[in-house]
Amino acid sequence: MRRRTFVRGVTTALGVAAVGAVPTIATAQSQPGDVNVYSSRHYDTDDRLYSDFTAQTGVRVNLIEGTEDQLLARIQSEGANSPADILLTVDAGRLWRTEQAGLFQPVASEVLTSRVPANLRHPEGFWVGLAKRARVLAYAKHRVDPAELSTYEALADPKWRRRILVRSSSNVYNQSLVGALIEAHGLDATQQWARAIVANMARPPQGGDSDQLLAVAAGAGDLAISNHYYYARLAMSDNAAQREAADKLALFFPNQGPDGRGTHVNVSGAGVVATAPHRDNAVAFLEYLVGDAAQAVFARGSMEFPVVEGVELHPLLASWGPFQEDPLNAATFGYNGRGALFIMDRAGWR
Ligand SMILES: [Fe+2]
Repeated sequence: MRRRTFVRGVTTALGVAAVGAVPTIATAQSQPGDVNVYSSRHYDTDDRLYSDFTAQTGVRVNLIEGTEDQLLARIQSEGANSPADILLTVDAGRLWRTEQAGLFQPVASEVLTSRVPANLRHPEGFWVGLAKRARVLAYAKHRVDPAELSTYEALADPKWRRRILVRSSSNVYNQSLVGALIEAHGLDATQQWARAIVANMARPPQGGDSDQLLAVAAGAGDLAISNHYYYARLAMSDNAAQREAADKLALFFPNQGPDGRGTHVNVSGAGVVATAPHRDNAVAFLEYLVGDAAQAVFARGSMEFPVVEGVELHPLLASWGPFQEDPLNAATFGYNGRGALFIMDRAGWR
């Protein structure tokens, strides 16, 4: 994990600590005018947001970065004395786990409830979505006619036999997607769907979403299930081979149209930690992150979509046009994630 402080626009690297090694910031350095942010996002553009927040409010942001599991373990081991004010992470499944562990407290904020659509925040205010990620289909332009594509459900059709690439069931993005299918169709139908997807896999799951995209481009399969921003990163990469791979692909947003429930959309989000020593600063920080300017920067850093309507999109994202989103609350598919993992396991989705 690394730790940094943002003071009046200046980013200072304060060093690197191994997991659980030195739980120090609050005791030694945290001041009343601080907010301590534990983040599993690692984007340089997020840094600018933190320094802007400090410039606007005078509140200093102390940042601890690590993986979600590291940060959760750290907050738990710090216990009631944890300096953590905010936990910022990706995927509703992880937000759900944090809430279940009792590590978030509810926040009632008019700013948050008026700016963030209800389906992208916890119904009782335990966390709030800050950016959106769509789980889309990336297909080989020269081997798949987009007219063949329609819904996640239709990927169960035998015509896709040995053509689909998707990462492991241990990945929380898949657990959330399958959690949404459970909500729509129930356990039995989702179990059948998962079996059919396994039969249609081009190879046993390996690697992350980017690996699936590169594999489709290389001809290992015809279609990948991936979060949209992995495609955006390939398309905008400094690496020519990655840009060429993206050029062989196109994106399809499933479950559109009058009868569709919309493309599955997940969130990056954050909540105020139950034991937050600077609760007011933490709420102010979340409210700042849903402001128009912060939204544009926050979402662009990761090529996600802003959660606030009307905020300008990156031109590449805008080029895909508007799409219909599944309005299912992220708290619901987060909750369903465990059942989803069980279903995928039983289907042989490794
Ligand atoms: Fe990701």
